[in-house]
Amino acid sequence: MKKLLKRASYVLGAIVALAAALALYIEIDGIPTYAHDTPVLTVVRTPERVARGKRLSTLLCNECHLNNETHALTGKHIEELPAEFGDVYSKNITSHPEMGIGKWTDGELEYFLRTGVRPDGQYVPPWMVKLPHLSDEDLHSIIAFLRSDDALVAPSATPPLGKTKPTFLAKALAHAVFRPLPYPKEPIPTPSRTDRVAYGKYLTFTLDCWSCHSADFKSMNVMEPEKTLGYMGGGNTLMDAEKKPIFSANLTPDDETGIGRWSEADFVRAVTKGLRPDGRPLHYPMLPKTELEEDEVTAIYAYLRTVPKIHNAVKRPSIEVAATAPANEHGKQLYQKYACGSCHGANGVGLVGDLRGANEHFPTDDGLRAWIEDASTQKPGTKMPTWKGIIRDEDYGPLMAYVRTLARPGKSAAR
Ligand code: HEC
Ligand code: HEC
Ligand code: HEC
Repeated sequence: MKKLLKRASYVLGAIVALAAALALYIEIDGIPTYAHDTPVLTVVRTPERVARGKRLSTLLCNECHLNNETHALTGKHIEELPAEFGDVYSKNITSHPEMGIGKWTDGELEYFLRTGVRPDGQYVPPWMVKLPHLSDEDLHSIIAFLRSDDALVAPSATPPLGKTKPTFLAKALAHAVFRPLPYPKEPIPTPSRTDRVAYGKYLTFTLDCWSCHSADFKSMNVMEPEKTLGYMGGGNTLMDAEKKPIFSANLTPDDETGIGRWSEADFVRAVTKGLRPDGRPLHYPMLPKTELEEDEVTAIYAYLRTVPKIHNAVKRPSIEVAATAPANEHGKQLYQKYACGSCHGANGVGLVGDLRGANEHFPTDDGLRAWIEDASTQKPGTKMPTWKGIIRDEDYGPLMAYVRTLARPGKSAAR
């Protein structure tokens, strides 16, 4: 018995030593590098591709690369990332030769965006998206845009805002579970826009609706999304703008807990304006996809109708608003409750709308209220939702006072 124990302690000791050596190795090695086989590729830059690529970049890249100070894709601090993975900064992806990606070849860009492996072999963990399902044509459009003279990507020498510091956990995961995605062996075509279900599935995959809306990021099947646990059944835990947990919604056609009873129009409003059929605003990180065209959203709807139903009642957020809070705090809570920040950002400058000019454009509160209630009467086709009947009467005062604090001081801002 004693002998056995002694043996066991040797074995344990060896394991501990091995683990320590492995830990040291991971710490020194950091995120692994990989050998790769860069495709030879020249993307022909047509105006159509540049325009389509710009739209795709708005949908897929700007959220993480657009810097509000430079108004260009010069990189930013990724604040939403859980701290357990580290402190992460995105990069300058303008065509500046030193600070940006001006020296990358089209093939290197394509390989990186498909697999996550940089030209120097460095692999980038999940904090940088990979695009395994995007069609060749759409990917080439993004590359054509990145190479264009658009102000968003014109060479900018802005240095990185900080250096990415992955935690030990991130490095360890990058050795064990996070791996480069395979480079596709076959061409990937864009499905025809007239095949509603196939096109909707393509958008659901490529716009990444599926990863947030399935059960858990940890059980994602990236290459075959439909095989993911709880596919589209919601319940995945995310972080809202206040860094509190929020759960993704069930988008399967289940009548009680999914969107089985939603009409196509209900769905379009929710996705493009961020408003549910019951008038409740959708909260961060469900950003309204104002860039999407109606027939794209209805294609997603058509596809979601075909997904297996999952009965899963997801807990919805209730944003508490304390009427007793000091006036400015009350207004800020209302701004959060109505999720104005999904489009206007926490401080008034968002991906979709900018509030800095609100005092100049709407010097009186009557004018400001009329705009918020129904902007479409003043500007048909605007992406600003109609709030009439949704914002409570007594909420306008404190909400507008708060909006005015986010705007530049106006000449005659009525308070
Ligand atoms: C979820 C946030 C996120 C999104 C979305 C995103 N990126 Fe990134 N990207 C990053 C981060 C973070 C890095 C830096 C990674 C690092 O250094 O570890 C990065 C790095 C890169 C790099 C490498 C630059 C270099 O010099 O190493 C390129 C190129 C790039 N991104 C292009 C894109 C394009 C094109 C899109 C849209 C299709 C996109 N990114 C979408 C976060 C994102
Ligand atoms: C970053 C994660 C994320 C992505 C990506 C995402 N969603 Fe969401 N979505 C959420 C969260 C979280 C909610 C719940 C928000 C709330 O309760 O206020 C939600 C809610 C919704 C709702 C409302 C459903 C209901 O019952 O209220 C719809 C519709 C929706 N998303 C559609 C989509 C579509 C379509 C896409 C892709 C174009 C998409 N989402 C991409 C996180 C995401
Ligand atoms: C779905 C995205 C979205 C949401 C959510 C949203 N807005 Fe807007 N908002 C916009 C857009 C886009 C504009 C610019 C409109 C235009 O010029 O067509 C805008 C413009 C405005 C303006 C005018 C700014 C100016 O300088 O003229 C105000 C004020 C405003 N929004 C207030 C709000 C408030 C308050 C909320 C929350 C109750 C809100 N918005 C929610 C998209 C949104």
